[in-house]
This record gives sequence, structure tokens and C-alpha cells, in this order.
Amino acid sequence: MTNINLVNLLVNESETLRSALKKINISGLGVCFLIKDNKLINVISDGDIRRSLLNNLKLSNKVNKVKLKKFIFVKEKHDFLDLQNKISKYKIVPILNDKREVIDYASEKRFRQIPQSEPLLKGNELKYITESIKSGWISSRGKYVNLFEKKFSNFVKSPYSLSTSSGTSALQLAIATLKLKKNDEIIVPDYTFVSPINSIIHSNCKPVLADVDLETLCISFDSLKKVVSRRTKALILVHLYGNSPELQKILNFCKKNNIKIIEDCAEGFGTKYKKIHVGNFGDFGTFSFFGNKTISTGEGGMVIFKKYKDYVLAKKLRDHGMSQAKKYWHDEIGFNFRLTNIQAAVGCAQLENANKFIKRKIEIHKRYKKKLNELNYIIFPKDQKYTKNSHWLSYFKINDNIKNHKFIRNDLINYLNKKGVEIRTGFFSAQQMKIYKKYKDKKINYNNSKIISDTIITLPSSVNLKNKEIDYICDLILKYKLN
Ligand SMILES: Cc1ncc(COP(=O)(O)O)c(C=O)c1O
Repeated sequence: MTNINLVNLLVNESETLRSALKKINISGLGVCFLIKDNKLINVISDGDIRRSLLNNLKLSNKVNKVKLKKFIFVKEKHDFLDLQNKISKYKIVPILNDKREVIDYASEKRFRQIPQSEPLLKGNELKYITESIKSGWISSRGKYVNLFEKKFSNFVKSPYSLSTSSGTSALQLAIATLKLKKNDEIIVPDYTFVSPINSIIHSNCKPVLADVDLETLCISFDSLKKVVSRRTKALILVHLYGNSPELQKILNFCKKNNIKIIEDCAEGFGTKYKKIHVGNFGDFGTFSFFGNKTISTGEGGMVIFKKYKDYVLAKKLRDHGMSQAKKYWHDEIGFNFRLTNIQAAVGCAQLENANKFIKRKIEIHKRYKKKLNELNYIIFPKDQKYTKNSHWLSYFKINDNIKNHKFIRNDLINYLNKKGVEIRTGFFSAQQMKIYKKYKDKKINYNNSKIISDTIITLPSSVNLKNKEIDYICDLILKYKLN
């Protein structure tokens, strides 16, 4: 909160209505704060003064003649959510110290809740949406769908891209293209957003949960080797929070064991491994354009392919399995996983700014890391030798060697949430949840996944996050006292 000059908001009870009105006029806030002996006694609006004048008061009358009504305020150590609630009803809310002196005020403009990750739609989004609406092509035909796929291919340098209705349908489409049998096994990390696990189950295959690496949060190679079986047909490798595992060993191992790879790059847009965009290493790479992702189409996704024949089959499956040669003739049981022309129009505009967005995400991460460096109870991810992380969401872990680390993690989150900063826990170890327990592999203990579940905190990382907001968040964290 910044200090402001309150002079134009404070009106002493000995002042006149004219003087109060002048102050309201200067501040432009529509209210002034009536004080007696420096203590707040009421909030007077320009409407209150207008009503007083209509009730025969004169501009030369003292302001304390205005009929007093109940008013609202918050204390210096207020609860942020309570304040938000009051702002939504009263627009201007005075903030008082223990002596009832006005030390500041809150309004919608002055207090913004800082979100985790919001989209930035200030490029050509509206222009292209308007064009697609004017063209009449609002479903999945129209120029933007193909254009978006082409531009996406250029961006990630992949030969074939196919847009989908979401990151989850992209995953399901990739699995369907593998043509696996019922109960074939697909290895998936235990620490992930659940979408890849659910996609495997909905495809009638069996997810086998592997542990993750403490540093990269991606699948651990040792764990992968332990959970692999004769029935393993594929691996979904999740590039969590923009990270990448040490890929080479995994690629060699999967090749040797004839295991197909789907790279889930929903959180890895912009991440490169050995200078190549992730998604290009596996047989398939899938992306999400949900509202919190680095580029967004509202809802939406993309699959990229190594092989043309997979692309052709996936395209057919995406469109109800309809034959390309004969309309309404179906030779596959397909889905409707298509992206609309309007969404693709947004995607084209977003791609125009994608490099800027990725650059900003990386800057945000660096600024957090630099500012919070002195705190020895938190751990930021280390830079990896071959990976250029796009830092979709910045995060740190609470050092799990510290007693009460779980409590500290949750307490720090509550403390920042109350100050209007949306920081969050990350995902949770899937095998801890009742519905996923049966996909545990008894040979491993998921220790790393559990530690990350208990210690991770994700930080606001929107591309339009201002440096001063990062500094505000860091100052709050620096002030937080470990008990
Ligand atoms: C790792 C991961 N995979 C898949 C998805 C699913 O994407 P969507 O929400 O677009 O279905 C998400 C996220 O939202 C994700 O974070």
C-alpha cells in the first residue's frame, strides 16, 4: 500500500459544507472523511451534502450538521477478503489505525488481487475474433484453424500440428492414435495435474504411477525403470511448470523397450531442451491453451506429431472418425475434439506475442529468485544444463529439512492470500487420493512426490505482472516470520 496525501480527504468538523464539497471535488473520490480530534467520525458523500442542501442547510453551515449515518471502515491489520467484500459494496473504505485516525483508504483501483496467471489479450485478438464472426465461420471451419496450426508448427518447429478443444482432448487424441488394447499400461508421473492420468483411464488403459525427480519435478528415470513392465506400451512425460527432465536417458530407454512417448507440454510452451522445443522428442507433444497458460484461446489445445501417418489418423479421430474421401462414412470410432475458428483466431493473435510472453515469464522467475535469495528456508529450482525453462509458473519449495515445513507452507499461503496475493499449493501426489490409489506401483514409495506436495508454493506469474507487484509480494514474504 502506498502512502497518499490525505489532506484532500479529511474534513474537520468545524469546516463548512462548501469546504467539504471543494475537497470532494479535488479528490474526485465522491466522499470525504469527517474527523474530530483527528479521529474519524463519519464518511460523507457528495450525495449526503446534496440531500442536506435540499433539506435547507446552507453551504456556509458546518459540515457536522450533515445527518450522520452508519459508515464502514477497516483496521490497519485487516483481512483482505473482508476488505474486498466492503469495497464491492462501499467503493471507498477508510483504513484506521488503533487511535481511529485515517491512515489510508482502499478502493477497487488501489487494491488489485494479484492473480496466479491471467491471460494478456491486448494484441490482435479482438480484431481477428471480429473477422471470424463477420466471416460467419464460428465453428471449426474457417481460415483461422489452419492458420493457427501452421503458425504453431512454425513456432515450435514441428512438421505437423493439429488443434484440439483442450489440452486434455489433445492427450486423449494422442493416446487414441496409439491404438492400444484394453489394460495396456501407460506410465505417468504421480506428481502432475491429473489430466494425463484421467486421459489414460478414459482410454481404457491402465495408468502406472511413477515417482518424480525432486529437482525437475518431472518423471524420475530411476522410478521409470522400476515401474516398467511387459505391458508398458507408452509413457506420458509431463513438462511440469515449464521444467524438463534429463531427456536423453529416457528417450534411449523408451526406444530400446519399444515404449511410445507422449510429451505433455501443457505447462511447457516455450521450453527448450538442447535448443529444441519440447514436444518434438516424443511421438506426440500435447499443449493446452487454457486461460492460465502462457498463450491462451480460452479453452483449447494442440497435438504435434513426428510422423505424418499419426497426424492423418489423429485428424480423422478428432473429426468423428469420418472418412476424408466420403462424407458421413465413418471408418473409425472418433470424437469431436475440434477447436473453433473463433478460438483459433485468438490463438493466432496470441502467437504473435508468444516470444514476449515467454521472455517476461523468465524475467519474473529471475526477479523472484534474486529478491528471495536470502531466505534459507525456501528452495528455488536450479537451472538445468540442457533445459531452457520457460517458467510458466514461478515456484519455490519450503525446505523439507525444516521442522513444521508443511505448516509453514500452508501458513505462508494464508498470510499472502489475506494480503490479496494469490499464491497456491501445487498439485498433490495422485496416489494419496482414493480414486488413484489403485494405480500405485508397490515397488516404489513416491517419497519425492509426497515431499513436493507438502512443500511447493506457486507464485503469481502473469505476463502482465508488474515489477513493483513482484517486489510487493517479495517484501511480504521477506517480512513473514518463521515461528
Ligand atoms: C500438465 C497438464 N496437462 C494437461 C492439462 C490439461 O489441459 P486443459 O485444461 O486444456 O484440458 C493441464 C492443464 O490445465 C496441465 O497442467
